[in-house]
Amino acid sequence: MGERSIWIEIEVNGRVYKELVGVHETLLDVIREKLGLKGAKEGCGCGQCGACTLLLEGQPVNACLMLAVQADQKRVTTIEGLAPADGLHPIQKAFIEEHAVQCGYCTSGMILSSKAFLDKKLNARMKRFKRPSPVMPAVAPGIPRLFRR
Ligand code: FES
Repeated sequence: MGERSIWIEIEVNGRVYKELVGVHETLLDVIREKLGLKGAKEGCGCGQCGACTLLLEGQPVNACLMLAVQADQKRVTTIEGLAPADGLHPIQKAFIEEHAVQCGYCTSGMILSSKAFLDKKLNARMKRFKRPSPVMPAVAPGIPRLFRR
């Protein structure tokens, strides 16, 4: 009996892909083998190491544990899509400056997890600043600019 396959549509790094995937195929396998994006890697294969981390709708996921069909109609960011075309993302630069790469195998996962963590913190801060506060007059007019994307 052959494995069932399903067409899915996923947006990866801003580009929409339509792929025929097996119902048991992981998101990691599709990203690496079908789309050719090799930044995320399989380490443990059981959700422990984070080497396979991708952002799904901005949230970090272990792509080794996620079925590709679960990503249908969703937005995925891989390490290849993090940086602008002309350079590195500030988190990538910070990792280099701080020599935070170790062997490098899981670095893409650490960077994407850091991105999700910082985005979450930033969003929480933005909400705080957007809330009208009688205690916060126009002390620092530049602050909202710091949090603009
Ligand atoms: S490969 Fe280790 S968590 Fe996915």
